[in-house]
Amino acid sequence: MEDKLKKLADLRAEAELGGGSARIEKQHAKGKLTARERIEFLLDPGSFEEIGQLVTHRSTDFGMENQKILGDGVITGYGTVNGKTIYVYAQDFTVFGGSLSETHAEKICKILDLAVKTGNPVIGLNDSGGARIQEGVSSLGGYADIFYRNVRASGVVPQISAIMGPCAGGAVYSPAITDFIIMVEQSSYMFVTGPNVVKTVTNETVSSEDLGGAVTHASKSGVTHLTAQNDVDCINQIKKLLSYIPQNCEEQVFDLPCELKDELRPALRDLVPENANQPYDIKEVINGLVDADSFYEVHEQYADNIVVGFARIGGKSIGIVGNQPMSLAGVLDVESSKKGARFVRFCDCFNIPLLVLVDVPGFLPGTDQEWNGIITNGAKLLYAFREATVPRITLITRKAYGGAYDVMNSKHIGADFNFAWPTAEIAVMGAKGASEIIFRREIQAADDPAAKLAEKEAEYAEKFAHPYRAASRGFIDEVIDPAESRRKLIKAFYMLRQKVDKLPKKKHGNIPL
Ligand code: HXC
Repeated sequence: MEDKLKKLADLRAEAELGGGSARIEKQHAKGKLTARERIEFLLDPGSFEEIGQLVTHRSTDFGMENQKILGDGVITGYGTVNGKTIYVYAQDFTVFGGSLSETHAEKICKILDLAVKTGNPVIGLNDSGGARIQEGVSSLGGYADIFYRNVRASGVVPQISAIMGPCAGGAVYSPAITDFIIMVEQSSYMFVTGPNVVKTVTNETVSSEDLGGAVTHASKSGVTHLTAQNDVDCINQIKKLLSYIPQNCEEQVFDLPCELKDELRPALRDLVPENANQPYDIKEVINGLVDADSFYEVHEQYADNIVVGFARIGGKSIGIVGNQPMSLAGVLDVESSKKGARFVRFCDCFNIPLLVLVDVPGFLPGTDQEWNGIITNGAKLLYAFREATVPRITLITRKAYGGAYDVMNSKHIGADFNFAWPTAEIAVMGAKGASEIIFRREIQAADDPAAKLAEKEAEYAEKFAHPYRAASRGFIDEVIDPAESRRKLIKAFYMLRQKVDKLPKKKHGNIPL
């Protein structure tokens, strides 16, 4: 028995060395942790159980039969984060550059299957040179087997992808199917075709970082939802993200105990400026409403005219969508509609209640917007809100104009509770624009057109630039003092905690993609 145990111990030690100490040093020299170090840092101490440690590839071409490394470039298994089970795979760049062989893919597929069967999240730590070049189509098949499972798992269990090194070619599509992508600055990149191919095909000269680095994808393409300064920051952010999300689509959000003393927040009364055209920071409103330090913004650098993120209110995990008056006056455009819609759908997949903060002057006009499909993209946000069956509460802080009023989780598309502050203006458009249209002839005929416009503007504002017309129709459930908003929201979310809302039987809807 002793011999046999020694053999097992030797095999384990060999597997744990991955591609060997020289390559591990190279990995460290690039400022990166190894795959094992990443897993260790992610999981609760001592909780990792490895699956498939002794797997090797089956390739016999190009002398590969003589180069077998236990584990074959990916470490897979399960463990806990804050006591909750997760599945994890970490590609090991020290083994054939983390490239994906047929067996490497099989290991990832195995944990994706287990995750769906057991209802636990999957975290992928990607660091790979892509398809194992020596294996040809077997490797491509392996990728497709992963995509197949990513799609099956979508909406069943949360899937988070960290990009902690190269990620190129079709390999980018597995992360793209998952719920959240987080990229490490300077050491990771994602692109379908790299700078050399770009140069050949389009004659553009571009670096890997500019083409597909973390900053590019966070701000220009919106492909990544979060960026991290280094591996440790990346893993800390994954843990934080997990703390807001249930384990699967059947589970409710996990509530943290919360002290509910100081519920009045008088500072909220002073946030909306007197002048309706003056901006203010919606994140200050959010931080004034939610539990201290609980707001975790995602997709921060992309379409910053809408803010999305997680928070806790009265200990309850919620998703927040808010127009941001500090950027483009909080207008809805193509990017912000897509960003908002995607976040709403994620929250709805995983039973995370939604709080929607509204200060929106409408949809952005212009050829750029129309030609880029503001109609289809704006409809995404409308559709996502309407389809969401989680508790949905809206608070209008200032403007709710035109179609954007309807779209931003209005009562009409199924919001459960609609609050407004006394500063709310709920109308087809602003008083000036409205007066210029409906009183045009009267204004033109007046001796002093400017004075007439001002008079008509005041008349229109008196009728519509407030929340009371909407409240009288029941479109607003309650007009509230900003200072009492936190208390009202906590009570409303508590009241809605048992909400049951079912969509009609269908295969699936046809969201305007
Ligand atoms: C096999 C690979 C590999 C690959 C790297 N290696 N990529 N082995 N298949 N795809 C090996 C190298 O031979 C080397 O082995 C080790 O990994 C480290 O690679 P280096 O080149 O030394 O590292 P570095 O200088 O950091 O460069 C990393 C890299 C580069 C930029 C990723 O290796 C590279 O360009 N690789 C090829 C990328 C690629 O074209 N992949 C296919 C993409 S197409 P030794 O033994 O020397 O340590 C694709 C299609 C997917 O993936 C489609 C899905 C549908």
